[in-house]
Amino acid sequence: MKNGLYVVGNWKEYPESVKDAQKIAAALSKNRPSKNVTAVVCPPHPFLESVGGKIKKGKYNLGAQDLSPMVLGAYTGEVSPKALTSLGVKYAIIGHSERRALGEEEPLILQKIRSALSCGITPILCVGERSRDNAEVSHSIVAHELLVLSEISKKDVEKIIIAYEPIWAIGTKASAPATAEDAREMRIYIQKVLADTVGEKTMKHIPILYGGSVTPKNAKEYIAVSGMHGLLVGRASLDPKSFISILESIQ
Ligand code: PGA
Repeated sequence: MKNGLYVVGNWKEYPESVKDAQKIAAALSKNRPSKNVTAVVCPPHPFLESVGGKIKKGKYNLGAQDLSPMVLGAYTGEVSPKALTSLGVKYAIIGHSERRALGEEEPLILQKIRSALSCGITPILCVGERSRDNAEVSHSIVAHELLVLSEISKKDVEKIIIAYEPIWAIGTKASAPATAEDAREMRIYIQKVLADTVGEKTMKHIPILYGGSVTPKNAKEYIAVSGMHGLLVGRASLDPKSFISILESIQ
């Protein structure tokens, strides 16, 4: 694991136009994240090239929100990891709960992780429970979602980032934000599952991020209390001021 923290901005389906995407990217590029933070911006696929061109100046990294499970071939509508790397994409969010809700399941998620790794893209694997159940239920859901890692070689597992996003704490419909203490408890559990699945030594190389209603107000507390290695930010990443203040608050 690289030293330092990760902050990943997930723009989801926003904004509506390339012009608006360029505006956000231009505002971000005026600020340079500190050296101990790896900042990643994940715009929708059609905006990758123009956003990538602008954020380079600010030393942000480019990420995709999804990719094809097949590296290259006759797969209508899919976006090849090779095409993504040619645009400078270094990271890809995989298995986000909003994609799982559209029917994406473990075998496909595993294929996407392999597809990313084979082209040198770092997978950001999202896991998280749907509702605020008791800890036992949440743990078993997260452990099940982490099982895909047992199918990947230790050498490759070390290249993966995990993002824990409790679905009940994501987006405007969030029932309540997770507390930093909730995040800490799950970080400890995830590390235990990883140690059991891939071994303690490999586990120590895998960064774990927290995502779900992260804002400039709570970012610092999530990091300080949870011991997570970074944040996955949705809504607040579309407002350059908010994204920059999240970056500044944790550095
Ligand atoms: P949110 O989204 O920050 O808007 O809650 C997080 C995510 O879905 O990645």
